[in-house]
Amino acid sequence: MSVNYYEKIWMWIAGGLIAVFVGAILLTTGLQAIHPPSHVETIDPAKVGDDPEFGKPGVTVRADGSAVVVLVAQLFSFNPDPIEVPVGKPVTFRLTSVDVIHGFQIVGTNANAMIVPGYVSQFTVTFDRAGEYLIACNEYCGVGHHMMTGKLVVKRAAQ
Ligand code: CUA
Repeated sequence: MSVNYYEKIWMWIAGGLIAVFVGAILLTTGLQAIHPPSHVETIDPAKVGDDPEFGKPGVTVRADGSAVVVLVAQLFSFNPDPIEVPVGKPVTFRLTSVDVIHGFQIVGTNANAMIVPGYVSQFTVTFDRAGEYLIACNEYCGVGHHMMTGKLVVKRAAQ
């Protein structure tokens, strides 16, 4: 099969771009801990209040010191707020929304997820630095969007 000279050039450019994009995903995943979306779990947004897990949002600390944060977002707040988690231990966030799409960005960290009604967003972060962090909703969700913030308190575990 003979391929036109210019067609060949474009094929190489397209192939190069694909290599760059796949490389960018691999690099950011490996070096910057950016996780492509992978967790798919659904929940009926109208029944979040009756859900055994999301009906009681809060923080649970496991025996090994790691923690699970179950959080419900709604116009225009996060529940629980503030969120207290241990420093230096894996913290798994499980997030859902009862109304519209919200954002969940822990400012100054790589924790950043969309909270989509009907789905559970889950990711795990280890905070190496104790202190207070601002949580910002970074998806426009209505007139109160700019006031939709929360607080994360990363603490040393009580001995
Ligand atoms: Cu919630 Cu913007």
